Amino acid sequence: MKIVFFDTKKYDQESFEKIMNSYPEITIEFLDTDLSTHTVSLARGADAVCAFVSSDVSAPVIEALAGEGVKCILMRCAGYNNVDLDMAKKCGMTVLRVPAYSPEAVAEHAMALALAVNRHIHKGYIKVRENNFSLIGLTGVNFHGKTAGIIGTGKIGIAMAEICKGFGMKVIAYDKYPNPSLQGVEYLSLQEVLGQSDLISLHCPLTDETYHMIKKDTIALMKDQVVLVNTSRGALIKTDDLIQGIRDRKFFGVGLDVYEEEVDNVFENREDDILETSVTARLLSFPNVIVTSHQGFLTEEALEAIAHTTLQNAMDYHEGNPRKENLVL
Ligand code: NAI
Repeated sequence: MKIVFFDTKKYDQESFEKIMNSYPEITIEFLDTDLSTHTVSLARGADAVCAFVSSDVSAPVIEALAGEGVKCILMRCAGYNNVDLDMAKKCGMTVLRVPAYSPEAVAEHAMALALAVNRHIHKGYIKVRENNFSLIGLTGVNFHGKTAGIIGTGKIGIAMAEICKGFGMKVIAYDKYPNPSLQGVEYLSLQEVLGQSDLISLHCPLTDETYHMIKKDTIALMKDQVVLVNTSRGALIKTDDLIQGIRDRKFFGVGLDVYEEEVDNVFENREDDILETSVTARLLSFPNVIVTSHQGFLTEEALEAIAHTTLQNAMDYHEGNPRKENLVL
């Protein structure tokens, strides 16, 4: 079975090459280039393409892939909101993903963002490097004894809830489908969670329903001086409204691993580019905002798990027996 990898980064190639010996039936061609209508021809003759969270897996790309004879899309990530499922279905494409690789990796990053922005680690680091040992402007708040609000109590939300409990926080949560077996977490309505939390962390998927769930009127429900963290998907938050909320001094801090404009930026070194719009630059201009570039998943354990599940998905597809839990389509 031949797989063409698009948008390959050094760490992708290393993690897959490490385990390739266990999958002798599979050959992989690693390509740096992004998947697009201009590059699909590079997949000619392949059984499957492997794409990531920021790849363009839109209708025209899928149609063109089908034209090249590709029959399977292996997403080496959990989210698949960038895949046009209608077109994939129309083209008879199988779409597989890695639903869970290390929920703890993402949850730990969410807490890292919350802590960094709360305790001004980003400012402290720079100050000390400049021999500025003053503490002015670095006061944080204790998380201990405060309330954490988790939106979406799936795999990552549960891991985040456990971390928050470990910090001595009260944990409340909103989920469209509450998990009755989840201990030590009180389920409330979205409005109540937003209104009672000192730390809000978003862990639900991006769907039509959750698109812009954090916007002017939901921000208005939040406590003043709340810490907001998003490691889920950028479009859960309406960025213009978030920026207005930051200007209105609503937030103690905001930590974003994902943001609406990230698609052209994610995993690219754009230090010599003039960016197309100023929304990201505006976000970065605030002293109480930390943005990372969709790196929540990036731990050695997660990369290894992603590689294993992706290649197992490929083998299962090849043998006509894809695992139900990994099958998107
Ligand atoms: P999951 O599928 O285990 O959990 C999602 C939870 O959201 C479920 O409990 C579900 O009931 C809930 N949900 C669905 N619709 C909802 C709604 N309308 N309102 C409230 N809750 C709703 O997913 P998992 O593995 O916990 O991942 C969560 C998200 O994290 C993914 O969808 C993905 O967008 C993001 N992610 C980010 C990564 C990063 O590197 N920053 C890496 C992996 C995932």
